[in-house]
Amino acid sequence: MTAPVDATTTGAWTALTAHEEAFDPDLRGWFAADPERATRLTRQLADLTVDLSKNLVTDETLALLVALAEQVDLKTRLDAMFAGEHINVTEDRAVLHTALRRPADAEPPLVVDGQDVDADVQEVLAKVAAFAEKVRSGEWTGVTGERVATVVNIGIGGSDLGPVMAYEALKPYVQDGLEVRFVSNIDPTDIAEKTKDLDPTTTLFIVASKTFGTLETLTNARLARDWLWRELVAAGAIEDTEEARTGAVAKHFVAVSTALDKVAAFGIDPENAFGFWDWVGGRYSVDSAIGTSLAIAIGPDAFGELLEGFHAVDEHVRTTPFEQNVPVLMGLLNVWYVNFLDAHTHAVLPYAQYLHRFPAYLQQLTMESNGKSVRWDGTPVTTETGEVFWGEPGTNGQHAFYQLIHQGTRLIPADFIAVANPAHPLKDGDTDVHALFLANFFAQTKALAFGKTADEVRAEGTAEDIVPARVFPGNRPTTSILAPALTPSVLGQLIALYEHITFVEGVVWGIDSFDQWGVELGKKLALEIAPAVEGDAGALEGQDPSTRSLIARYLELRQG
Ligand code: F6P
Repeated sequence: MTAPVDATTTGAWTALTAHEEAFDPDLRGWFAADPERATRLTRQLADLTVDLSKNLVTDETLALLVALAEQVDLKTRLDAMFAGEHINVTEDRAVLHTALRRPADAEPPLVVDGQDVDADVQEVLAKVAAFAEKVRSGEWTGVTGERVATVVNIGIGGSDLGPVMAYEALKPYVQDGLEVRFVSNIDPTDIAEKTKDLDPTTTLFIVASKTFGTLETLTNARLARDWLWRELVAAGAIEDTEEARTGAVAKHFVAVSTALDKVAAFGIDPENAFGFWDWVGGRYSVDSAIGTSLAIAIGPDAFGELLEGFHAVDEHVRTTPFEQNVPVLMGLLNVWYVNFLDAHTHAVLPYAQYLHRFPAYLQQLTMESNGKSVRWDGTPVTTETGEVFWGEPGTNGQHAFYQLIHQGTRLIPADFIAVANPAHPLKDGDTDVHALFLANFFAQTKALAFGKTADEVRAEGTAEDIVPARVFPGNRPTTSILAPALTPSVLGQLIALYEHITFVEGVVWGIDSFDQWGVELGKKLALEIAPAVEGDAGALEGQDPSTRSLIARYLELRQG
């Protein structure tokens, strides 16, 4: 195992530290002195126009950050990832989500650990596409011969967040007469609400779980199976026999997993299962068979366009010099904010309602990847890692939390994302409503960057004692990302952009961005605590005092 370069020992880090000490951000002044700043700091990434100019950086800052990337051997790490080296060291796995979107005719073929990865990927993709077509055309039917109207994806984490985010983002591409619902939470409310108005004869469940061992997903899958049997029998669609139930599962359940033996044990015919591989991390899996629900909804062609979007960004990050490389620059900017300007969080603010689940998706991608305190060789990290990602679509957020971004004491770098052509070009009288919407997108980054001085506030006739409250300090950093429209390709580009940003940050911090041991302890304890919660006095006795008294109170409160 190659030890990570400790970024804090590099010459670039020392230079950045000195640079920060003398740093006096002045976006107003910088733009006034340099009319070319916006042009110079705007980059094109496939269809995405990315304006970095409202970030708190000078040319010197960027040059030092690029030097840092070179000194931590970012290029070597990127190449290692694309080549399938086992850079997920704690699980001894390759990290090859980029292989999921390589074109069918990519040359030379990618062979990793003796496996022809390209052939494997194309085989599963073809199987998913054929199945999606069968469902979409009505060839695939339930036990009574009815075509599928509702697909229910049962999964959690990466087996949920990616598909649901992309389904919501690409709603205009969903075939008429098809709906996908997503059940993730083990709170029984989730499955109860999602199934309560469904017709079992037209419902198809997809159990999506990389490990096929996740408590939430397997519990929900069993609840779904019970619901299906109960409702089909009640509707007179099947007899209440073992054989009829098995037949119903075969027609109404498929699975996506790397553990096809466990799929079979659940009662799903492996013929109706779509595989993937341990080199696809859960949070990097929306473009694998985990996206089967999405492929059904939008169709294999649109799913293919999504993959092409991902691939365009992969090629950009792999081949573009760091100075022009958008994911690299955005990752380095995040490092600048986290490690030198003391930012703790990062907002992602889509001005596209269809992207309303994008921030939630990014939370798993970024925080499960980079929320680490040790480096990939087991030694402690040498600096802060993993900022908190969060956000909501504009303009809703403007009326909720933007106050703190504009005038609070904390530095919150923010990415603003918008598309030029809406799916619904509505007019309010003569007013183009989407144009009005985007006026907010442009206005917010302007206000954040340039603020409003006390003199400007006074000039509006504001009473002197109110002036301080109405001053906007400005110098609040933003990146603006503008796409032509929210197409499948553009969505793929956006996802891949953030995947690679996450990777770049992880490399600078020397961490393995592809394991997630931090979620294990809570899972284990939940299983240990479950008997106490169900009333086992002995198990309750073994708990710590706080947990014991909380459970005791719960047992008092619980009725029935
Ligand atoms: O709990 C974390 C996690 O392992 C995620 O990384 C993963 O996306 C999620 O659980 C679901 O896992 P699976 O797809 O194996 O059910």
